[in-house]
Amino acid sequence: MLKIGHIELPVPIMLSPMAGVSDLPFRLISRSFGSPLAFAEMIDINAISQKDKRTTHMLLSSPEDRPLGVQFLGNSELQIPLAIERLDGHAVDLIDFNAACPSPKVTRKGKGAALMKEPKKLAGILSALVREGRLPVAVKIRAGWDADSVNARDVALRAQDAGITCLFIHGRTKTQGYSGVVDYAVIRDVKEALTIPVIASGDNLSLEKIRRMFNETGCDGVAIARGALGNPWIFSETMTYMKDGTVLPKPDVSARIAVMKRHLEMCVTHWGEKRGVGIFHKFFIWYTRGLKGLRPLRNRAFRTGTKDGLIEVIDQLARQHPRCKDRMPSQGPVRPDITAH
Ligand SMILES: Cc1cc2nc3c(=O)[nH]c(=O)nc-3n(C[C@H](O)[C@H](O)[C@H](O)COP(=O)(O)O)c2cc1C
Repeated sequence: MLKIGHIELPVPIMLSPMAGVSDLPFRLISRSFGSPLAFAEMIDINAISQKDKRTTHMLLSSPEDRPLGVQFLGNSELQIPLAIERLDGHAVDLIDFNAACPSPKVTRKGKGAALMKEPKKLAGILSALVREGRLPVAVKIRAGWDADSVNARDVALRAQDAGITCLFIHGRTKTQGYSGVVDYAVIRDVKEALTIPVIASGDNLSLEKIRRMFNETGCDGVAIARGALGNPWIFSETMTYMKDGTVLPKPDVSARIAVMKRHLEMCVTHWGEKRGVGIFHKFFIWYTRGLKGLRPLRNRAFRTGTKDGLIEVIDQLARQHPRCKDRMPSQGPVRPDITAH
């Protein structure tokens, strides 16, 4: 079991925050396969005002969507009181502050991973969150800005001194973005230096890689991001393995089809038909990764603007794989569009 403040997670795994991906339907799908914690999409606290509809929609949740983390992106402690106030009336269990986003759009403004270069300022923001909030506070950091300035241990210690409850670390530098190798040694160094739980992120793409993350870093938990795209089974696989060492078989096509239909239905309910179908297109690609002869069906899926149209495409997928025995391939590195982040 993993404890983050008052939050008790039966297994030390969770869905990592993903802007542009982690909407309510995706969180609920991930939870139904065993992710005990998930995060709403990152909120830029520079941009919030008391009533903006975008933030309100991002904070939409449901009773099954608990415990829920919210992630803030910002660059000043002055923004914190309003940001905290904005959560009033929303069901939130944990506040995570982002010091990890590598997007130039973000770092140019001194936000996200740019704060790895300003550990004092970051600690000030975290202190303000701890002071103002009634919720446990976490921070997500990177190994450092670049290979010449790996400072995760120093940043992590200052963050812990600021009073946070838990720390997330993506074991890559800002300049690595999402490529190159994950630095397990840096994560281990941070884990050994801190007394609060350390959750490790970076290439947790398969059961094998997740085991490696635990073994090489001694981390308290892992956050799964790209490995969960089109593959919520990664949570049940990991959970089952951690419980009794059983390795579950990969899902076959019929299992994928059933989840796709459920996910599509939830997207349409949450976003409305037009938007929901548009949003589901990228999940269609992820769910069907590795299946053969897919191009014409993917093209059809992308031309379709209705739920019924997409269901027809999914049914055609079932007809194309009548024995439904095609197994999910082992997860390679996925390169989703991460511009939203
Ligand atoms: C599409 C996408 C969006 C992301 N958005 C966020 C975000 O909003 N906040 C965050 O802390 N990390 C974000 N990340 C980073 C992931 O949470 C994770 O730390 C990173 O992808 C490394 O894990 P992985 O190699 O297992 O994917 C995002 C990653 C992806 C792929």
